[in-house]
Amino acid sequence: MLDVRHATVAFSAPGGPLVRAVDDVSFTIPAGTFVVVIGTNGSGKSTLLGAIAGTVRLDAGSIHVAGHDLTGWRENRRARYVGRVFQDPRAGTASSLSVLENIAVAACRGRPVGLGWATPQKLRAEAAERLAAIQPGLEKRLDQPIGSMSGGQRQIVSLVMATWHRPELLLLDEHTAALDPASADRVVQATAKLVRDQKLTALMVTHSLKQAAGLGDRLLLVHRGKIALDVEGGAKRRLSPEDLTGRFDRLRRADQLDDPAARTLRDLYA
Ligand SMILES: Nc1ncnc2c1ncn2[C@@H]1O[C@H](COP(=O)(O)OP(=O)(O)OP(=O)(O)O)[C@@H](O)[C@H]1O
Ligand SMILES: [Mg+2]
Repeated sequence: MLDVRHATVAFSAPGGPLVRAVDDVSFTIPAGTFVVVIGTNGSGKSTLLGAIAGTVRLDAGSIHVAGHDLTGWRENRRARYVGRVFQDPRAGTASSLSVLENIAVAACRGRPVGLGWATPQKLRAEAAERLAAIQPGLEKRLDQPIGSMSGGQRQIVSLVMATWHRPELLLLDEHTAALDPASADRVVQATAKLVRDQKLTALMVTHSLKQAAGLGDRLLLVHRGKIALDVEGGAKRRLSPEDLTGRFDRLRRADQLDDPAARTLRDLYA
């Protein structure tokens, strides 16, 4: 479970205005919920995920994951509870190491020495099983350097690594954005399967309104550092990509007005 209370992050460029990238945001995600996060460029999605992962410091508010108050924790301490896959397939994996070696690093991370994997054979078998379950064929490539694999294959391995110890929360910030459409589709399907099979709590940022409409149990639309739309259940299932395109267009039009007029327009469509 994720509980974000009054989270606020403000940035000020020298001489520039103060930007409230995350503006007093509160929401709770029950365990086992797959949440898709959308929003225009610069709306605050990555800052929000960074604040949860510990790469961005909160100016106010708190972050709880599975009952633990992570607010003052460093990124590496949070990693025990929070798994992540990055946009760049090269981030989070070591190119010169083999697929199995990368997985071994993930399997040992945060574990006391000696409590890792009893035998290399056991780790190999488990890694092969998990890879085969989400992309059959990948289990035959355990000994290849991960740097020799395609971006899509690398993201699948990254997913297996990030979820190896079944994190309390999985954060995905546009993890398919650097891939060609066919690979992006495969990685998204693999993500959905992994989240469903392991009953993970996940937050996935995407710019694909098709993915946003078709995936997940709940959808958050972030706009100017706030949550402008929060839908789940039947209302989420009925959302089409066209509905979301319409919402985006209205938000963009509202942005061109002065603040009171924009607020009226947003309330009208909320
Ligand atoms: N380190 C930083 N220093 C100053 N301003 C920042 C910093 N990081 C983000 N911002 C600003 O905060 C706002 C939110 O940025 P953020 O990256 O969270 O948006 P986003 O929704 O992830 O956008 P995108 O869809 O382009 O990834 C933007 O105005 C951005 O310029
Ligand atoms: Mg971003």
